[in-house]
Amino acid sequence: MRYYDVGDRPPHFNHFYPAVPVVIGVESGGRINFMPAVWNVGLSFDPPLFAVGVSPKRYSHGLLQAAASFGVTFHPAEQSGLVQRLGSTSGRDTNKVAAFNLAVVRGKALGVPLLGGFYAAYELEKTDALVTGDHTLFIGRVRGIWEDPDAFTGETLDPTRVRALLYYGRYRYGYPAPALEDLGEG
Ligand SMILES: Cc1cc2nc3c(=O)[nH]c(=O)nc-3n(C[C@H](O)[C@H](O)[C@H](O)COP(=O)(O)O)c2cc1C
Repeated sequence: MRYYDVGDRPPHFNHFYPAVPVVIGVESGGRINFMPAVWNVGLSFDPPLFAVGVSPKRYSHGLLQAAASFGVTFHPAEQSGLVQRLGSTSGRDTNKVAAFNLAVVRGKALGVPLLGGFYAAYELEKTDALVTGDHTLFIGRVRGIWEDPDAFTGETLDPTRVRALLYYGRYRYGYPAPALEDLGEG
């Protein structure tokens, strides 16, 4: 075991990975942009709230500040290369939709841009933007949910049908084992 005495900054901050990244889709001023965010979290069932932590350094940050709504999409591990491209280029100097020939799906509830290829997606009405250290937590109320019925058994993702993309940090990706331990009552 190694121990780090943390002063201002930890030497690295990847211990809470692997985690499932979303791809944020946001539109403002006629511009659509997509960026992956692994700092994402469900916050409330009623009302249904979901949030993403985005650094002010990202081009998406300004769009998220200006927009009233945004989308998030969940992608299978087969799309790791696409997620990596979206997370290593900036909308500030590249129109990613044109450059990567992205399939844009329009939300039904809010018309938000959703990156095609997802197994699930949320349309979010922005309710708050909280500054949390060097990131901003953009909180959205879920107004529309998309899910691929073939990907889910009942309410939960079926790992034998879809390999959810996992992010390990430092541009490393994987997916969960297909085995499930079901300890529910049935
Ligand atoms: C898998 C992955 C997850 C990421 N998660 C976050 C995140 O949660 N928050 C963040 O601010 N940046 C995150 N990034 C970095 C941004 O996605 C990246 O800087 C991106 O190029 C920003 O695009 P933009 O400038 O067009 O908004 C992540 C990158 C990758 C590859």
